[in-house]
Amino acid sequence: MCGIVGYIGHREAYPIIIEGLKRLEYRGYDSAGIALFDGTDLKVSKTKGKVVDLENRVATEISTNAKLGIGHTRWATHGVPNDINAHPHYSNSGNLVIIHNGIIENYDALKKELTARGYTFKSDTDTEVLINLIEDVKLKENVKLGKAVQIALNQVIGAYSIAVFDKNKPDEIVIARLGSPLAVGIGDNEFFIASDASPFIEYTKNAVYLEDEEMAILRVNKDIKIRKIKDDTLVDPYVQELQMNLEQIEKGGYEHFMLKEIHEQPNAIKDTYRGRLLVKDGIIRMSGIDDNIEKFLNANRIIVVACGTSWHAGLVAEYIFEDLARIPVEVEYASEFRYRNPVITPNDIVIAISQSGETADTLAAIKLAKANGAFVFGVCNVVGSSIARETNAGAYTHAGPEIGVASTKAFTTQITVLTLIALKLAKAKGSISNSDYRYHLQELELIPDKVSKALKSDEHIKAVADIYKNARNCLYLGRGYNFPVALEGALKLKEISYIHAEGYPAAEMKHGPIALIDEQMPVIVIATKKGHYEKVVSNIQEIKSRKGKIIGIVTEGDINVKELADHIIEVPETLEPLSPLLTTIPLQLLSYHIAVMLGKNVDQPRNLAKSVTVE
Ligand code: AGP
Repeated sequence: MCGIVGYIGHREAYPIIIEGLKRLEYRGYDSAGIALFDGTDLKVSKTKGKVVDLENRVATEISTNAKLGIGHTRWATHGVPNDINAHPHYSNSGNLVIIHNGIIENYDALKKELTARGYTFKSDTDTEVLINLIEDVKLKENVKLGKAVQIALNQVIGAYSIAVFDKNKPDEIVIARLGSPLAVGIGDNEFFIASDASPFIEYTKNAVYLEDEEMAILRVNKDIKIRKIKDDTLVDPYVQELQMNLEQIEKGGYEHFMLKEIHEQPNAIKDTYRGRLLVKDGIIRMSGIDDNIEKFLNANRIIVVACGTSWHAGLVAEYIFEDLARIPVEVEYASEFRYRNPVITPNDIVIAISQSGETADTLAAIKLAKANGAFVFGVCNVVGSSIARETNAGAYTHAGPEIGVASTKAFTTQITVLTLIALKLAKAKGSISNSDYRYHLQELELIPDKVSKALKSDEHIKAVADIYKNARNCLYLGRGYNFPVALEGALKLKEISYIHAEGYPAAEMKHGPIALIDEQMPVIVIATKKGHYEKVVSNIQEIKSRKGKIIGIVTEGDINVKELADHIIEVPETLEPLSPLLTTIPLQLLSYHIAVMLGKNVDQPRNLAKSVTVE
């Protein structure tokens, strides 16, 4: 996620901003920059890389005795990480400067209009479009910066938290937010702004958090004035005295990054389909697919290469692509694929899935596929990562940085991207009726709220975790779309609690694993209403007759499994192809709580790395 820091007041801005950017490094980023008004002119310095690289650059480039400034750490969404795409961005006149966290969905149309009116652009970013839109409004309407920002934001579709100032009026900063957090620290004749309170908590504990569709003009010697962007109505600022310490702020108040990221999934999934899922128009817009649609429609098959959780997402994709788009799919562990001398032809499409975009085995599998003429499509979370650059085309998951080693929001956002692709191809092939297609789109748009509802079972799941935290072995069972979820649930448990766990297709139990069942063995069974339900219920009966302890993951309102299982955890009903997005939630929380109760290092489990960049 991008990080925003700003200051206006009586102190030197530079040290506040640069230290503040360091406080936000945990959010993940790929470039950094700062803009300072030193009393005579506006100075900007920015660089690909880390805040320390920015410090080195500032030392040789600009004076730092400024009382007004804004700084930014960029998590690339539009435009690869480089010096030019780094924030802050200037307007064409050089008078206005902006930093921005979020995604402007209609930036392309706005850029075309501005270009027609003579504006030029140095970067590939949506942010540079926004600052020139603000300048265009300011000049055309002959209004002050605050009003220009307000008018411009009413033309914008997307998510943003921004800070803007005009070098010709250096006594104010204009801020606004929609969808990305923005905190204002209120000092004595000074204001601090930041994506969260960590950059200014040592200066003031009095903070105001802007709400969505609110903006404010911060002027020294004046009280903060907050207005609704839509209709300019004044909003009474709610000033709160912060109680959190630094570490708590970085984790958003959660005990661990993993728990924070589990709870970020509703917004992460929304960010994944933002600008891509247009339900009203019945359109899925993905340029990486649109530009290569014939390749996908004429492909012999799709080969998925990935590792770990990403491999599980690929397995879900196999079910979705074959079920809905009728395209043959093979899912390969990248580490096996790269060495087994596979048959690859130019009519194959390879989909490489990777959160980090740096997994060595996946990267090697991609190179092998390309060397044999296959078209390779990447599904990554890190913009500009090695895999993102190596693939022929791709789609980012836009999940925001995933700090916890155990993948959670990466998994659900990967499935979201893959579901969008499968539905898009199914529509193009005519392998799904228009009514079913639109039904899937409508249901997909409801998923974030249904994930939020599934998260509400947290206390109940914690109670179940307390009962089974000392298990030595666990079995996870699922059928159809939820077989990969059973594998993923088992991986989550073993990698953070170190309890041995295995996932199996529920029907496979009779071919061996049933020998393991006894009263010491908790068996987590995914038994959603539309997923071969009767078959799974009979599997549950087999387990029960052998005294296994059964935890059923069921569709809300289920009564059959409730009578058989020792515990049930409900998830909202949805279409079966979308059910993995919901059934994985209780499994993430179950493994998290067990690991915490066992005192494990949940965010950095032993022997594991967040990205396996070596063989
Ligand atoms: C899953 O919780 C692990 N973090 C691990 O299996 C991970 O999914 C795997 O290493 C692949 O990483 P990638 O998605 O970054 O390629």
